[in-house]
Amino acid sequence: MAEASSRAIESNQSGPHERLEEVVSKHLRTVSRRPVADHTRLAFEAMQQWLGAGNSLPIILDACCGVGDSTRNLAAQHSDHLVVGIDKSIKRLSKERAVADPSNMLLLQADLNDFYRLLVQESIQIARHYILYPNPWPKAAHLGRRWHGAPVFSDIIKVKGPLELRSNWKLYLEEFQLALKVAGIASELEPFTPETPISPFEAKYHASGQKLWRLTAHT
Ligand SMILES: C[S@@+](CC[C@H](N)C(=O)[O-])C[C@H]1O[C@@H](n2cnc3c(N)ncnc32)[C@H](O)[C@@H]1O
Repeated sequence: MAEASSRAIESNQSGPHERLEEVVSKHLRTVSRRPVADHTRLAFEAMQQWLGAGNSLPIILDACCGVGDSTRNLAAQHSDHLVVGIDKSIKRLSKERAVADPSNMLLLQADLNDFYRLLVQESIQIARHYILYPNPWPKAAHLGRRWHGAPVFSDIIKVKGPLELRSNWKLYLEEFQLALKVAGIASELEPFTPETPISPFEAKYHASGQKLWRLTAHT
């Protein structure tokens, strides 16, 4: 059962970070020279092989999939898609589940800071792109660790197609929305009540009575 005692996010920010636009604009102008970590390149190659055997079905990307339950749920809901869940934590990814995974899903350990760049470089087409409950990094000093404050934001928005983020921290999504606006991309932010939570974080925030938010865009 989901924990019902999760606390709402506390931050020393009362509104969007004052340097947000400056930071996003800089990242949009800059080409990353960061070398791709070996484990992420290997994971990417494993994905390419798996996709190659998948009869060209459309792909769903579940970025920051944690233990992979959202990947499992998305795979069950979209049996005509291939669902790829990515997380950097092998501990989370290795968490065993009683029921066998659907055959149309793949979980991979990779650093999304590199993985997104490879997706863009290799022009992998993504039909739906989810980032569910990203780590909030609520301190103002941690703006650069939020996806919209990191250099990889410019690659995230080059993954073409529908993008959906969910969070229990509205300000995170408001900032992501502003970052998209800097890049000329419109988006919609709305309250969200899951009928059936699809991930552990969604389940625990929902069970705690926290308000959830959803941001959707077409990148
Ligand atoms: C708050 S958890 C949410 C997990 C899951 N989406 C859920 O809703 O239950 C955020 C996840 O993002 C993953 N993560 C953070 N930075 C990452 C990165 N650079 N590359 C891949 N995964 C990352 C963490 O390991 C963690 O599992």
